[in-house]
Amino acid sequence: MNSLTILGLETSCDETAAAVVRGTPPGPGVILSSIVFSQTEAHAPYGGVVPEIASRAHLEILDGLIERALDDANVSLHAVDAIAATAGPGLIGGVMVGLTTAKALALCMGKPLIAVNHLAGHALTARMTDGVGFPFLLLLVSGGHCQLLAVAGPEDYRLYGTTMDDAVGEAFDKTAKILGLPYPGGPNVEIHAARGNSRAYPLPRPLLGRPGMDFSFSGLKTAVRQLAQTQVNVDDACASFQAAAIDILKDRTAHALTRFRQDFPQAPHPMLVVAGGVAANAAIGAALRQLAESHDFDIRVPPPKYCTDNAAMIAWAGLERFALGKRDPLDFSPRARWPLDASGDDGHSGKRQQGA
Ligand code: KG4
Ligand code: ZN
Repeated sequence: MNSLTILGLETSCDETAAAVVRGTPPGPGVILSSIVFSQTEAHAPYGGVVPEIASRAHLEILDGLIERALDDANVSLHAVDAIAATAGPGLIGGVMVGLTTAKALALCMGKPLIAVNHLAGHALTARMTDGVGFPFLLLLVSGGHCQLLAVAGPEDYRLYGTTMDDAVGEAFDKTAKILGLPYPGGPNVEIHAARGNSRAYPLPRPLLGRPGMDFSFSGLKTAVRQLAQTQVNVDDACASFQAAAIDILKDRTAHALTRFRQDFPQAPHPMLVVAGGVAANAAIGAALRQLAESHDFDIRVPPPKYCTDNAAMIAWAGLERFALGKRDPLDFSPRARWPLDASGDDGHSGKRQQGA
């Protein structure tokens, strides 16, 4: 197949992003440009993403970012094969801005539109960066999602487990807020954790040692809140929280490694892929690497800038869909919820709102 060139747009949360990616499945692809504008400053005073502020900010800067992405890639709109945009799940106002912009470009340039599931973007990133083949086991850990899935094709996902309450990124963000650390919480908790003693405070590890592959983080968050009412050392609290989160992730993922082997006995070198913003956490990456190796799994964790929200992953997921011969109609509706697997659970905690 000829190499495909795709323009991708991402506007589902608080990052506005545009990228141009070239390649063919299974990858790796060439990221010709990837521009991410983080709205962190606009949301920081509120301690969380404010949907209305996010949509307005996307609207103000998206067209400029698209121009820059095309310029950086040295590609004209005429030369792209298709225009891909996140069509969900996410904050609906933001999704509408990106998807409507993509529709307008597709219509006036006579190019195909590809509606991309944001989670598929995260899931397929390791193909864009490393050319990972199917099937693989995916641990998807972000601000809104915490799931284990078997990925057997670009649009073939089997859900193994999901969170029963908060997503792990949300737990990081809430812990940061409780401890008075600035937004965005995850990276700040990691920095403080590196300086602290992880055994300073005993914190619960919900579901640990129980069968199954689901997650629960709300008990851990409540324990951090109670801890914060006493005199705490912030570094030690962050280290203790992060150690608990890692234990939970390892325990649940260990069950999924076993299940994946049963489901895909023909895979000679089974692969664990970690994706989503929380995969940018080096301590989590190291712990999962150790776990994978002890189970004879390979592991891929994409570089942090492609783990957190970006448009290159959307362009790549669009490229995979385009390569399957799929196109989407110009009246495609944005979706606030959009599960990756057919069973209907999109793994969204439903709590990712202002100040959450
Ligand atoms: O994938 P992402 O950029 O956006 C969503 O689709 O949710 O993930 C953002 C989440 C936030 O909760 C953020 O705090 C978390 O990823 N995160 C981290 C780190 N970097 C980002 N959590 C822990 N450690 C990090 N270094
Ligand atoms: Zn994301």
